[in-house]
Amino acid sequence: MQRLVVVSNRVPLPSEKGPRAGGLAVALADALVPGSLWFGWSGRRAARPGAEPAVQTSDDITYATIDLSDTEYRQFYAGFSNSVLWPLLHFRLSLQHFRAEDYQGYRAVNRRFAAALARLLRPTDRVWVHDYHLIPLGAELRALGVRNRIGFFLHTPFGPPAITQALPHGNALLASMCAYDVVGFHTETYRTAFVDCVREMLGGKPDGDGRIGFGTCAFTAIVDPIGIDAEAFARMAATSSRGAESQRLRASLGDRKLAIGVDRLDYSKGLLSRMDAFGRLLERYPHHHREVSFLQIAARSREDVNDYRDLGEELNRIAGDLNGRFSEFDWVPLRYMTRPVRRRTLAGFYRFAHMGLVTPLRDGMNLVAKEFVAAQDSADPGVLILSRFAGAADEMTDALIVNPFDADEIAEAMHRALTMNLEERQERHRSLRQRVWHSTARRFCEVFLDHLGRDEDDLPASAGPDQTEGASLASFGGA
Ligand code: ADP
Ligand code: G6P
Repeated sequence: MQRLVVVSNRVPLPSEKGPRAGGLAVALADALVPGSLWFGWSGRRAARPGAEPAVQTSDDITYATIDLSDTEYRQFYAGFSNSVLWPLLHFRLSLQHFRAEDYQGYRAVNRRFAAALARLLRPTDRVWVHDYHLIPLGAELRALGVRNRIGFFLHTPFGPPAITQALPHGNALLASMCAYDVVGFHTETYRTAFVDCVREMLGGKPDGDGRIGFGTCAFTAIVDPIGIDAEAFARMAATSSRGAESQRLRASLGDRKLAIGVDRLDYSKGLLSRMDAFGRLLERYPHHHREVSFLQIAARSREDVNDYRDLGEELNRIAGDLNGRFSEFDWVPLRYMTRPVRRRTLAGFYRFAHMGLVTPLRDGMNLVAKEFVAAQDSADPGVLILSRFAGAADEMTDALIVNPFDADEIAEAMHRALTMNLEERQERHRSLRQRVWHSTARRFCEVFLDHLGRDEDDLPASAGPDQTEGASLASFGGA
């Protein structure tokens, strides 16, 4: 039996209990099959990280993780991954803070990951690499002579050439993605953008069927939307809504309706314009005062990156301002928390909410949208307000779809949700529910692994590129 080896920067170690804010870890944990190996960063920093991974096993899943040094953390994680790639991939070109040493650190950590992983691989393993931290990992593994099938999945959006060309070392990174056998995206828009980039920036040759030829490589680019274990989440929501925390929330609200937003505290999530929109709702429709309370949970994230700290300060200011303007002595319109909350507790809160606000400025998929729908009581469901720029909007067309840059439009959607009759809420929910139950975490894995398993004999023509950027480009035919 072939073993699945999942590789991601963030690994939710079973020994470290606690809430996991981040879609990738949540969805993969829902879908891993027994016997798999999960390899990545331990989440810890060490003065002198060892070359050998620390290994632990739980529920027949083996976790192999390595620590990062302070410099690696700064250059690879806070630097190139989260101060260049993340903003670029979310179309925020002006938030890129490029430093050449961060890029070198990024490449070096990918080489170190590859060397540690290569020692653990068996010849028949299928390797599935996840997300922007590890774009060149496949090319590094090939350079070490690894001939297994290797796939890559990008959990973020992917921009057209006009955006991607602004990425420093963009050609080299794009060329390194061509070392994988399969490359996956959440939506057709992102896949098409990627194919356009490979064609325009590298001179690659797509055949129209998803196969792309580039130098000596031929690989497949697919669309595979991620989902959740909807059935399990729905059960968890029903149980949790009867639990102590949900009951406390309910008691604290009295007869008021609950609006809820749950995100990592990230500038891609549209939190500023969401709060602005809530203020406009209250300004425009005074009869909603005292009728609704908005609970925004924005778990602190990537606090070593300045733009995240700045956003946190701005949100504190706006939340204070909003409550100062609209609060009454017995009603506070906005409840704002920056602590992560357990997924089980969130599930109960979603079920109780009258509307869910998922308004990212740009998002690969957005699992909160799917969790919100799965958690609802079909007899009295809440309304989902969803950004058209979340990958989830492709599937969840019966949400109230909004432009997240237009606070007035979000405010109107909130008003509509607060006044929507039961029949319309049920109709919309029925259709959304179908989509969420169709595109599950399990299906996401099956579809990707099915593609990765095809053409098993079609091994890469060469062991891969040289380690240097110029040589790597040359061996993939790039300029
Ligand atoms: P991202 O991966 O960018 O964080 P997603 O919406 O795809 O966005 O995934 C977020 C995941 O993390 C969801 O499973 C959600 O329940 C969880 N999560 C998000 N925000 C919080 C929070 N504030 N506290 C706890 N969990 C959170
Ligand atoms: C997004 C990214 C993931 C990342 C997660 C949490 O979901 O796509 O790769 O793990 O955010 O971010 P963090 O920086 O804490 O890993």
